[in-house]
Amino acid sequence: MGLFPYIGGDGQFIKVLKNYLVKSNIFIELFGGAGTATLYVAENRLANKIIWNDLDDLIYAAFYVVKYYPEQIWTIQKILNSISRFIEKDERIKVKKMLQKIRYALDKGIVKDIVKKGIWTIVYYHACHCWRSGPMLRWVDFPDRYKSIYKYLFKYHQLLQNVEIYNCDYKEILEKYINNDDVLIYIDPPHTGKHYYRVENVNLHKLARYLENPRAKILVKASLQDKPLLELEKRGFKRIDVKFTLNTSHKKEGLTYILLKNY
Ligand SMILES: C[S@@+](CC[C@H](N)C(=O)[O-])C[C@H]1O[C@@H](n2cnc3c(N)ncnc32)[C@H](O)[C@@H]1O
Repeated sequence: MGLFPYIGGDGQFIKVLKNYLVKSNIFIELFGGAGTATLYVAENRLANKIIWNDLDDLIYAAFYVVKYYPEQIWTIQKILNSISRFIEKDERIKVKKMLQKIRYALDKGIVKDIVKKGIWTIVYYHACHCWRSGPMLRWVDFPDRYKSIYKYLFKYHQLLQNVEIYNCDYKEILEKYINNDDVLIYIDPPHTGKHYYRVENVNLHKLARYLENPRAKILVKASLQDKPLLELEKRGFKRIDVKFTLNTSHKKEGLTYILLKNY
């Protein structure tokens, strides 16, 4: 689950995370990324109002297209089908060059139209491993991997009809909801020392200060290096250490995440 494969996303972690996604009137995913938690809450009707937010305008455009332009899901499917036919070495080099140009045009704001931005962002994240590392192609070992992407994108289109999507700095949303009762705010910011994301505008000391005396229920996902977030334990947050194995097509990776919650 998740709109596209996203490094550091909760696609596989959801099997742990779901145990802490309690029912609430409002659910907010503050650093939304591919939106796994949001889609899970929507699918399981765990909140009356659901908010997904991310400061990256490309990620926002991807959600915008799936929410408001379902007919473009076929365009996405067709592009992915056609590029995944290229598996020979020289063909792959050509596709990489093409994806590099697309990435550049998206990154520099050369693509202005939000629908085009959304389509190509979804294509890029499906086709390549990580925004920062540049195009390392995903389909070369499994050329059939894009065969039925349209099925789950249509499902997400339906789920997103019950989700409000925003492209704001996290502080705007947090200030509005942090002192409301019956709100669950899930917080998974870019983590210390990892530079995976196109947008990483977060000072974890400042974020932790916002979380000192909230009325809202707060669930934070931290890494062992996110010291300011780990300090929340001293402010009454309960700490849960989670050892987790991430399965990728090439390897299994052991990860430790810390969940901190005040409810
Ligand atoms: C660790 S990822 C979230 C992954 C998400 N939980 C998922 O399952 O895909 C952190 C996200 O925070 C976003 N971000 C960075 N700075 C931000 C800010 N100041 N306000 C809101 N979002 C921000 C990044 O674009 C990135 O998508």
